[in-house]
Amino acid sequence: MTFEALKPEVSKILESKSLSVEHRLEEICTLLKENIAYYDWVGFYFKNGDKDELKLSSYAGAPTDHTIIPFGKGICGQVAVSNENFVVPDVKAQDNYIACSISVKAEIVVPLFVNGKNIGQIDIDSNTADPFTEADERFLEWVNEQVAQLVD
Ligand code: SME
Repeated sequence: MTFEALKPEVSKILESKSLSVEHRLEEICTLLKENIAYYDWVGFYFKNGDKDELKLSSYAGAPTDHTIIPFGKGICGQVAVSNENFVVPDVKAQDNYIACSISVKAEIVVPLFVNGKNIGQIDIDSNTADPFTEADERFLEWVNEQVAQLVD
């Protein structure tokens, strides 16, 4: 499925007022994982209260031990402090990386801003080497902008 075709599906899920926010985020994770061939794990992390750490919220894919990630640690923790997208074509080339599964080859993390504040992120793991392009970044930025309106 193309990114453009997925956008109305994402919007439809976010508008499903009968579902909790967490459930809606879980449905988005599943939608992306099932419809983008190289998305093998999709999850949302959010800042954990007033602590300088991320907490895993909804996700689709294999369960991970890394439900709490301190700011600065791993790709996710680095994005929590840099406020910038982090595209990793080859996870083996990263020193500051937290492995969730040995099958993962690449990762993309895009921060989620509410009123200009970095409050979390969407994290995608891929079992395909170097799969992400700028189109993924633009699409995931768009997804996060939609989610931001919900968690505002
Ligand atoms: N690889 C991430 C940890 C989270 S898992 O990918 C689900 C990192 O280095 O921050």
